[in-house]
Amino acid sequence: MVLGLGTGSTDQTRRRPNWRASPSGQAQGHRRNPHFQEDARASPLSGIPLSDMDSHPVVDLAIDGADEVDPYLNLVKGRGGSLLREKMVESACKKFVVIVDESKLVNYIGGSGLAMPVEFTASRLQNLFQEFGCVAKLKTLGEKVEPYVTDNGNYIIDLYFKQSIGDLKAASDSILQIAGVVEHGMFIDMATTVIVAGELGLTVKNK
Ligand code: A5P
Repeated sequence: MVLGLGTGSTDQTRRRPNWRASPSGQAQGHRRNPHFQEDARASPLSGIPLSDMDSHPVVDLAIDGADEVDPYLNLVKGRGGSLLREKMVESACKKFVVIVDESKLVNYIGGSGLAMPVEFTASRLQNLFQEFGCVAKLKTLGEKVEPYVTDNGNYIIDLYFKQSIGDLKAASDSILQIAGVVEHGMFIDMATTVIVAGELGLTVKNK
């Protein structure tokens, strides 16, 4: 069985890697993040062999957390800074099980008032997200001004919505059409099961 497991947020102390001086000696300009290689080797899941999507393009089961879950099991993910690789694995899986506590449940995506992250290739916003009626902020490292950099060497633009995004699929299409957008944190119609931990025990919601 091929299993995809979420490992939570990426290392917030990471700096934008200098691709030209990669310690692994890769060719100049090759956008491969040496820090990700280290993360991948240091699996906390002792005894479970690690693989990649080139070797296993189809994943049997993915298990991960989420930042928001709406009543239709649509999700926001990536508030910790990882979303693209999670979405790649979870798009390729036969079953996607999400495990959250009740605090992650929202009436609509964006309803927590917290960020919906977008992985973006530049750190300048240029009002590109204005049309969505949201506030857009570059994700930084903690309280610092230094930009957060993803496993893929990109930036994260956090979008804060004041009201419901509305048609999620239409919003997804529009965001993905913006030049420079790599991926966004809305995981629409992807989860097959959500397990919610509450004070009274577990609730299992199936698609
Ligand atoms: C990582 O960036 C995210 O997609 C996480 O899956 C999400 O933030 C949920 O993380 P927790 O389960 O740690 O809250």
